[in-house]
Formats: sequence, structure tokens, C-alpha cells
Amino acid sequence: MIRKIGILTSGGDAPGMNAAIRSVTRVALNNGIEVVGVRDGYSGLLEKKFEPLTRTSVSDSLSRGGTLLGSARLPEFKEESVQNECMDHMREAGIDALVVIGGDGSYRGAMAMTKKGINCIGLPGTIDNDIPGTDFTIGFDTALQTCVECVDKLRDTSSSHHRCSIVEVMGNHCGDLALYTAISCGAEMVITPETGYDEVEVLERLRYLGEAVHKNHAIVIISEKITDVDMLAKKVSQNTGFSGRATVLGHIQRGGSPTPTDRMLASRMGEKAVDLLIEGIGGQCVGIIDNQITSMPIDEALNRPRTSRKPLYRLFDRLV
Ligand code: F6P
Repeated sequence: MIRKIGILTSGGDAPGMNAAIRSVTRVALNNGIEVVGVRDGYSGLLEKKFEPLTRTSVSDSLSRGGTLLGSARLPEFKEESVQNECMDHMREAGIDALVVIGGDGSYRGAMAMTKKGINCIGLPGTIDNDIPGTDFTIGFDTALQTCVECVDKLRDTSSSHHRCSIVEVMGNHCGDLALYTAISCGAEMVITPETGYDEVEVLERLRYLGEAVHKNHAIVIISEKITDVDMLAKKVSQNTGFSGRATVLGHIQRGGSPTPTDRMLASRMGEKAVDLLIEGIGGQCVGIIDNQITSMPIDEALNRPRTSRKPLYRLFDRLV
């Protein structure tokens, strides 16, 4: 029987993390289980930054972006000595189960601690939508909404000036945020780790859109970490009929009030995490697959191939 659940958020913050913290806290308290918030991700375990969470600690958090517990990346957590120290600190504080909200790095930490004897459950929290074992991550929908709002605005000015707007979005090494934004905004081109990048082809395509298709303006959505978008914009101005402008959306994509979809997702996933821990299950991650809340062993999720995005890339091509 568990008496005290710890909860932490790790990696880049994502809108909806607070909704997940709230859900875990309220569901646990309603089952007679105490909850301890761990500040600043795994480093809070190392530095014993623990604080009891009550019903009211999570009041008014549902609509707020960011994470009320703070987040951090702790690469040293891979080291066994660091994990052992964290285990000792949790035992001292009477924490007998842990919910970790974060990305796949955070999942690996959760798995390691489960193997050492404290049941941990992972919830997928990132705007990148790059976590295996789930169709969607907490924060993706809100980030997508932010991207769409920004690109819609850029379209207004871009079409007024016969320009090509190159918009860089986040996603780490995953193209989902770019792809979903491109489809939702009716972009002319999308460039992601999955499409690959060939500068000559991009410039040729833009020339074709301007000269043969008589497009008045063009929107190119590109994932981060692919190329220098300011340089690309200069080349667009030099080599195509468009005047090129680059916009990097940056960390604005991580902020803001979570959408109802993210609030629902986080609330449902938080509930599932507590239910699993009550059943004595650890080492699993929670996901949403075909709109059903599911769970699977973390090891299995990390080795699972992602669902193919080919149909969505095909859709994009058929809509241009
Ligand atoms: O994982 C979320 C994310 O925002 C990625 O999209 C991005 O590559 C990275 O984090 C940025 O990290 P930081 O906030 O440390 O600059």
C-alpha cells in the first residue's frame, strides 16, 4: 500500500504540466494518499527540495502555463551513484512512489528508480510530441495553437508585401509541430527532419510557386535545428521572385494557458498514473492511443517505432 506519492516535472516545461500536477494531487488526496511536490525536476530529489502538496496548493493552476514545481535538466541523473542518493532521499522523506512528467530522458530516470525499488510512472510532458507510447503529449496542442496564431498573423503581412515568410518552429528532432502547423495554416512548404532538406530544391520550388503558380506570397514552416533560417531568407530574396523574411518563434511556443484539449489530456493522464500506483504498478508510462488512456512498460515504449506520419505528409502535399 502506498502512503506518499512524490511528483516532479523534468525537461522543458510544457503547458498542461500544472493540470497534470493538479490531477495527480487531487486524485491521490481523494484516495487518502499524501503528495509531495519535488522542485526543479530530478535535481530536487538530489537537493531534497520537497514540499507537501495540499488541495489548495494546486488551486488556480489548471489554466496556468509553465510548471508550478519548476523544471530542470539533470544529465548526471544517468549516473548510478546519483540515482542511489536520490533513492535515499526519497526513502528518508517517506516517498514510496513517484510520478515523473517529462520526456524520454525523464522516463529513463523513472525506469531506473523503479528497478531500484520505488515505483515510478512517467507522463509525457513536452511540446515536441516526440515521446513514444502515446499519440499526443501534454503541451503539444497548446504549442500548436500558438504556432497557428503566429503564422496566421505572418500570413497577413507576408501577402501584403509579396514575401516569403520562413517560420522556424520547435520540436527538437521531431517534425510534428511543423507538420501540424503547416497543414493547419495552409503553408506552401514544410521542412522537417522527416522530409529532409535540400536548399537547391527549396529555392527551385519557391521560384516555381512564384513564376508558374503565380503565388503572391509563400509560407515555409521549418523545424528547428535544420538550417540557419536568416541565411535561407537571404537566399530566397536573391534567388526567387519573393522577398524572404525569417521568423523564429522560439520559447513563446512553450508558454501560455493550456488549451482545453491539453487540460483534459493532463487530467486524464494524472488520474491514470495514480490508479497504476495504487495497483502497485511501476515502470510504466501513460499515453493516449486512439483517444483511450493507456499505459505500457517504459522499456517497451522507448523501443516502439513511432506511428508513421506518412499519411499526414501526403495530405500536406495534396493540399498545396
Ligand atoms: O523539448 C522542448 C524544447 O522546447 C525543444 O522544442 C527545444 O529544442 C528545446 O526544448 C529548447 O531547450 P531550452 O529551453 O533548454 O533552450
